[in-house]
Amino acid sequence: MIYDVIIVGGGVAGLMAAIEIKKESPVKKVAVITKGNLFKSNSSLASGGINAVLDQTNTQGINKHIQDTLKGAYGLAEKKSVEYMCQRAGGIIQKLTSYGVVFDKDEEGNIAQRSFGGGSEQRTCFVGDKTGSAITAALIKKAKTVGVEYLVNNFVMNITQLDKRVSGIVCLRRFDSSVMVYPAKAVILAGGGYSGIYRGFSTNAADYTGDCLAIALRAGLSLKDMEFVQFHPTGLAKTSYLVSEAARGEGGYLVNSDGDRFVDELDTRDVVAQAISEQINNGKKVYIDLRHLSSEHIETKLPSLYKAAFMQAGVDISKELLQIKPVAHYTMGGIEASMTTTDIKGLFVCGECGANGVHGANRLGGNSLLEGAVFGELAGQKALKFIDSKEYLPIDYNIVVKDQRWVDHIFDQETTKNFNAMRISLGKTLFEHVGISRTQKSLQIASDYLRYLRRESSTLHTMDKSRNNNVELIAILELRNALEVSEAIVLSAMKRQESRGAHFRGDFPKQNEAMKKHIVLKELKPQLFKVWEEDTGLLSKLRRFLSH
Ligand code: SIN
Repeated sequence: MIYDVIIVGGGVAGLMAAIEIKKESPVKKVAVITKGNLFKSNSSLASGGINAVLDQTNTQGINKHIQDTLKGAYGLAEKKSVEYMCQRAGGIIQKLTSYGVVFDKDEEGNIAQRSFGGGSEQRTCFVGDKTGSAITAALIKKAKTVGVEYLVNNFVMNITQLDKRVSGIVCLRRFDSSVMVYPAKAVILAGGGYSGIYRGFSTNAADYTGDCLAIALRAGLSLKDMEFVQFHPTGLAKTSYLVSEAARGEGGYLVNSDGDRFVDELDTRDVVAQAISEQINNGKKVYIDLRHLSSEHIETKLPSLYKAAFMQAGVDISKELLQIKPVAHYTMGGIEASMTTTDIKGLFVCGECGANGVHGANRLGGNSLLEGAVFGELAGQKALKFIDSKEYLPIDYNIVVKDQRWVDHIFDQETTKNFNAMRISLGKTLFEHVGISRTQKSLQIASDYLRYLRRESSTLHTMDKSRNNNVELIAILELRNALEVSEAIVLSAMKRQESRGAHFRGDFPKQNEAMKKHIVLKELKPQLFKVWEEDTGLLSKLRRFLSH
């Protein structure tokens, strides 16, 4: 099957791009490809809302949105991208409404807006506390109506290119583990971020392993600002479920085990997460307190949280405190792009996997769905323009053969190693050593461990040899991507010897103006496995753990 444009990823950004192309040019063949369930993208988990100044003539309000976003980004945002996003926001809400999203209304029947952290005005539009899932559900329907095809359960392994122009994608069809090629004139990467790598300590689905970033790196593109991993202040302590910022936006307090409030709940996420982490490090527990809100308010504005707290923690939030902890939530780093354009012609990026400079060192809550929608729309427009009068290019079958061999290799040999234990210990290692606070020492521990895992991962094989929907195969392929991306995070975090936004270095606690620049990573070199090799006791202990 060949397509004019293939979009990798079925979240808000990918769907907006697909709709934009099909709506403008119905004759074009457009497919959205996802590795799993279309309804389970990270966008659908972003619950609290989407920022916008609704009146597009309100220049003062739009300027405030721009200023808040720039301030929240700690000097590393690209002004052009921020201005574009904030100016387009009101129009995007109108467009989403026309696609069937029903935003909550105030008493006068206008779209209601709530407060979110770092915002100098109430500008977060919402659908209760399930804004992301309401938007994605409407977009999935709209995309289907305009004729976008869905290729679900396809794991993209690589892109192919000729003379720095994209020619298609190589993917694994999960149904029978065949390596397939889909030629395309343009490809849009919109496959999400990499917080899911912090497995067990993340609001993300575990399969958010930064696949698009690893694909881009292998294709010769650069990754930018990878050290900036945002920790959402309020994950449910028991399960890491996202306790939406909407809970604080609707008036919830944060209190410690002494019952004291200790931070402005609507400060930016980096500040609030740091403050909570400090309490926890001092032996306190931290809770969100919603008991002063009426039951009716909770039921209408926070229905998902009400249910989840009850189901996952046995807590009735209208009567009891809910224990929370900061967890990895969003990644500001990504594939280097100018707005949506990359250095490979015909290859565009949008949404969380791209680094277009909107968020800099720290993203404001409510700006992620906005960024996805605005830059998804733009990527669609750019791709449509690009394919005009373009021919298909030949596929580089070397990549296809290499990917097929890699898959066969994973099936063909036996193993006793437990990739699941590796994925869990990777998440734990990152949270502990590349978490809210890092130091050279903690980063070195993570780096050494990553090298060890990378070496081990090349000898991972499936125990189940069936080629039908083999979940082990996908887990191994995801782990390979996750390890490449993790190494990029650690290397960048080592390089940034200062604290800025979401990146806090315990050994460099101050912001350093000389470091007001981006860290860009072009490739990962094969590394030696020094420390783990030397510490034989530790190594054999770890081997025993991983083989169980
Ligand atoms: C939330 O509801 O807190 C998540 C939304 C976001 O990250 O923007």
